Amino acid sequence: MRRRILLLAHRVPVSGNFSLNDLAGAGGRMDEIARATSTAFTVSNGLRRDTELTILFVAEPPPRARRIHLRGVGLRYLNPDERSTAALLKNALVRSSTLERDVEASPGLVVGPIDPLPFLSEFAREPGTIWLTEDGPPYLPTIPLADGVGAVLSDSEDPAPDERQVLKHHRVPEVSLGPVSLRASQCIDVLHNRWDTIEGSPGEAARAPVNTRRGI
Ligand SMILES: C[S@@+](CC[C@H](N)C(=O)[O-])C[C@H]1O[C@@H](n2cnc3c(N)ncnc32)[C@H](O)[C@@H]1O
Repeated sequence: MRRRILLLAHRVPVSGNFSLNDLAGAGGRMDEIARATSTAFTVSNGLRRDTELTILFVAEPPPRARRIHLRGVGLRYLNPDERSTAALLKNALVRSSTLERDVEASPGLVVGPIDPLPFLSEFAREPGTIWLTEDGPPYLPTIPLADGVGAVLSDSEDPAPDERQVLKHHRVPEVSLGPVSLRASQCIDVLHNRWDTIEGSPGEAARAPVNTRRGI
């Protein structure tokens, strides 16, 4: 089952110009974005190959907003620790900062400039998409959807008014994962668990062994 996750990152400097020693401060909570990225893909001794994560870095221009798209199929050099994941994403932003086109910054990771609202609109229109909010009714997935599943969630800030408007316009179902307000990375853990439960044990095709020496 194809799993699509869209994470809205509101505060990370789009240029990638911040220190890895200050991810939570000057990095605009890149620590949480890195953790969410790790959570989206890593499992014990493997990677989720059926998952795609898009991060929209929507901080105000200049420069323009950037999109990082990671695909489990073909993804390499994603190690389980937060700092190296933050470095992978930061390096991609830095490389993209002078380019007006998409580039594969590392295997399975594409970065490029983006108009966030049209992209969000496109994502929202895909079948099976939900919007994670603390206020929604409980998310009760029952059967795997042939077209796959997708979820939109936000970083330490809630979606901005124009982002909310797009999601509402497309009537993306607002759902809650429980009564407690969670961190984005925790939401992804819960979400995968719900999807794992309805899908059953993922086959070997959905995972691949971790090679911790060379990264994956
Ligand atoms: C840290 S929360 C956002 C900030 C939070 N609303 C606050 O009051 O500070 C990050 C995101 O995770 C998602 N989220 C957090 N808890 C959730 C829950 N219980 N159910 C569904 N989504 C949740 C939402 O998308 C939210 O925007």
